[in-house]
Amino acid sequence: MAPMFLVSNKEMMEEAMSNGIAGCFPTLNYRKDGELKLILQQLNQHKISIANPGTYGVNLIVQKTNPLYKVHLKDCIDEKVPFFITSLGNPKEVIEAAHSYGGKVFCDVTNLEHAAKCASLNADGFIAVCQGAGGHAGPYPMSVLIPALKKEFPHIPVAAAGGIATGSGIISALAAGAEGVSIGTRFIACTEATVQQSYKDAVVNSGMEDVVLTERLSGTPCNVINTPYARKIGYKQNFFERWLNTNSTTKKIL
Ligand SMILES: Cc1cc2nc3c(=O)[nH]c(=O)nc-3n(C[C@H](O)[C@H](O)[C@H](O)COP(=O)(O)O)c2cc1C
Repeated sequence: MAPMFLVSNKEMMEEAMSNGIAGCFPTLNYRKDGELKLILQQLNQHKISIANPGTYGVNLIVQKTNPLYKVHLKDCIDEKVPFFITSLGNPKEVIEAAHSYGGKVFCDVTNLEHAAKCASLNADGFIAVCQGAGGHAGPYPMSVLIPALKKEFPHIPVAAAGGIATGSGIISALAAGAEGVSIGTRFIACTEATVQQSYKDAVVNSGMEDVVLTERLSGTPCNVINTPYARKIGYKQNFFERWLNTNSTTKKIL
C-alpha cells in the first residue's frame, strides 16, 4: 500500500499489517510535535500483537523543502521503522541510518539515472514510478521501465507503481519482471482512509478519461482527476514558469 500525502494513516497501516501486506505512509501526515513518534510506537505494538503480520514503512521526503526531515528521521531510527521509501533528494543519510539496525530502504525512481544513483548508495530496492501513477508520475510505461531496471540492476528488487488496481494489473507487473507492486489510488477509497466521502466516490466513479496529467500543481507532471479546479489552473506550464521551476529559489515564486 503506497504512501499518500494527506491520505495514508495509522488505521490503514494496521489493516495492511493485519492482512499480510506492507503499508507505507508519509511522515508528513503527522506533523504535530511528538505525534509521529507515538504513531510509530503504536504501529510497532500492533505488529507484534498479530500472528503472521505484514509490515509497515514510512515515506520520507529527503529534501531541504521538508522542514521536519531531521526530526522525523531521528524518530524513525529510534523506533526502528522496518522500511523507508525515499522520494526527491539524496537518500544517502536514510540508507546509512536504516542499515545500522537492519531497516530497508526503497527509493522512488523514474529512470535509469536515478536508479544508478540509488544503487550506488546501497538502496535495498526500487519503487519504479511509471506512467499513470497517481500524483507525481514517471515518463515511462511499466512495460518499459521494469525490464530496463531489471536488465541494468538484476539483483535489486523492484516494486512497480502506477495504474495498478486489480489482480490482473498485479500479474502484468510481475510478468514484466517486478518483484512486487505499490498501489496508491485504489486505497484512497478504503474505509480506513479519513478523506471526504466525495473524494472516495470520485476515485470509485472516475474512469481513465477522467484523469489528466498536469504540470501546474507542483511543476512535476502529476496525474489528477480532471475536476473544475484542474481545468481552471490548466495543464501545461508556460516558458517562464518552466524557467522558474528549474531553480529551488525561483520555484517558490510559482
Ligand atoms: C493522493 C496521493 C498522494 C501521494 N502522496 C505521495 C507522497 O507523499 N510520497 C510519495 O512518495 N508518493 C506519493 N504518492 C504516490 C504513491 O506513493 C504511488 O507511487 C502511486 O499512488 C502509485 O500509483 P497509483 O496511484 O496509480 O496506484 C501519492 C499518490 C496519491 C494518489
